[in-house]
Amino acid sequence: MNDRLASIKQEILEGIEKSATSRATAFELRKQFLDSKTGKIGQLMKEMKSIAPEERAAFGKGVNELKEWAQQRFADLDEKMKARELQRRYEAEKIDVTMPASKIETGNLHPITQMKNQLIDVFAGMGFEVFEGTEIENDYYNFTALNTPQDHPARDMQDTFYLSPEFLLRTQTSAGQIHVMEEKKPPIKILSPGKVFRSDDDATHSPMFHQMEGLVVDKKITLCDLKGLLDMFVKKIFGEGTTTRLRPSYFPFTEPSVEVDVSCFECGGKGCKLCKGTGWIEILGAGIVNKNVLENCGIDSDEYSGLAFGIGIERVAMLKYGINNIKLLFESDLRVLNQIDDNE
Ligand code: PHE
Repeated sequence: MNDRLASIKQEILEGIEKSATSRATAFELRKQFLDSKTGKIGQLMKEMKSIAPEERAAFGKGVNELKEWAQQRFADLDEKMKARELQRRYEAEKIDVTMPASKIETGNLHPITQMKNQLIDVFAGMGFEVFEGTEIENDYYNFTALNTPQDHPARDMQDTFYLSPEFLLRTQTSAGQIHVMEEKKPPIKILSPGKVFRSDDDATHSPMFHQMEGLVVDKKITLCDLKGLLDMFVKKIFGEGTTTRLRPSYFPFTEPSVEVDVSCFECGGKGCKLCKGTGWIEILGAGIVNKNVLENCGIDSDEYSGLAFGIGIERVAMLKYGINNIKLLFESDLRVLNQIDDNE
């Protein structure tokens, strides 16, 4: 009898040694011995009846001891397997906290779009509404209504892409002024951003570029209003310390016309490479709307006056971000574009 108990014990020890590699296999092994119906130790219990009565007590004691011993072995084994599985999981899920984090690449808006949005923000804060014109215009809106008759020498100022004798790609967002004044009566305060096209191509000119037109028409609008607006604009875009200066110029649709300079934000006006030693940088064209233009749109030029300005968006972006070639803005080179992220 004792031999049978000893051999089961031996079987258990060998089984544990050889086949218990996980909690699941250990559980299967346990069943072979301790399952109440089919387990080998349970079977021994059933044999009680056939044991001679005088040996029964000793047999029962032996089987019970074996059962307790086996239960303890398997409980220990289960603990061991549990620890081992946990260890394996830790190994598999190990994270090296000293590793540099993987970089999350995010896109950003194109510098022209960033600049355009900033300009809209500045002027929207002063009550301007956005009007989007069309890129294809006819001769009337781009030139004639803007006081530039057929034979006017001012047409030579801008080399035009003609689509047909009548239609052309707008050379200036000023064309939008006419549409607005035809549709709306004063007071008018609009901002018109968009693409414009000219046959022009060098380091600072591109055949396609962007302008932002501003137009205000109301009673008693003067050059002082223009100066005030532009001062505010340069302070917001180039810094609080900057100001503007107006120089006489010529545009057929404004009278008087001015070229607007911003005080150099790089050297504070002392003179540097950026401002070519002058302390000033030319940024835009503007003026008081020519009476003929108001009249062309059916606005009484004795009652109303207007101011207009046209900002070159590339020009402002190039100055602000220190870009020396306009082509860099159109080549989609991520090494360039990634450097310009002004979206605070
Ligand atoms: N349209 C002019 C240009 O393209 C700029 C401008 C706009 C000048 C409005 C005066 C008033 O050069």
